[in-house]
Amino acid sequence: MVWVQRRKRIVNWGSKMKINTIIFAVLSSVLLNACAHDPDNPHAYLPDAQTEAAQVYIEQCGACHAAPHPRRLNIAAWKNMITVMDQRRQERDYPPLTDAQRNKLMAYLAEHAR
Ligand code: HEC
Repeated sequence: MVWVQRRKRIVNWGSKMKINTIIFAVLSSVLLNACAHDPDNPHAYLPDAQTEAAQVYIEQCGACHAAPHPRRLNIAAWKNMITVMDQRRQERDYPPLTDAQRNKLMAYLAEHAR
């Protein structure tokens, strides 16, 4: 009797371990997928990434760091951020944003900002 109970406990412990392993595997694959990166399409996380405005945004704002998702800020904060980033660009000898570039990427941000 005692032997059977001990054996049962061992079996139960074993299946708990299995469930934990499965939960861990599922959770970590979900988490890893959230950061999944497709080398052929590195800006797939951006909305409307194929449009011309998005391309301007990616070119002008994705050189030093990944182009941030437009939902990160509201449009007022983006306006300030673009001014700061234009300074960062010039500190590193990038040409200042032209009005056309600024208008395009502001239009893109305005459409998708939070
Ligand atoms: C010349 C390099 C460079 C370019 C080009 C650039 N940035 Fe940045 N960006 C930086 C640096 C450096 C920081 C770190 C914060 C700082 O120094 O102000 C930063 C930080 C940021 C942040 C804050 C990041 C965070 O984690 O919150 C945002 C948002 C941002 N940049 C947006 C933009 C946008 C939009 C553009 C395009 C207009 C752009 N950046 C282009 C250099 C650049």
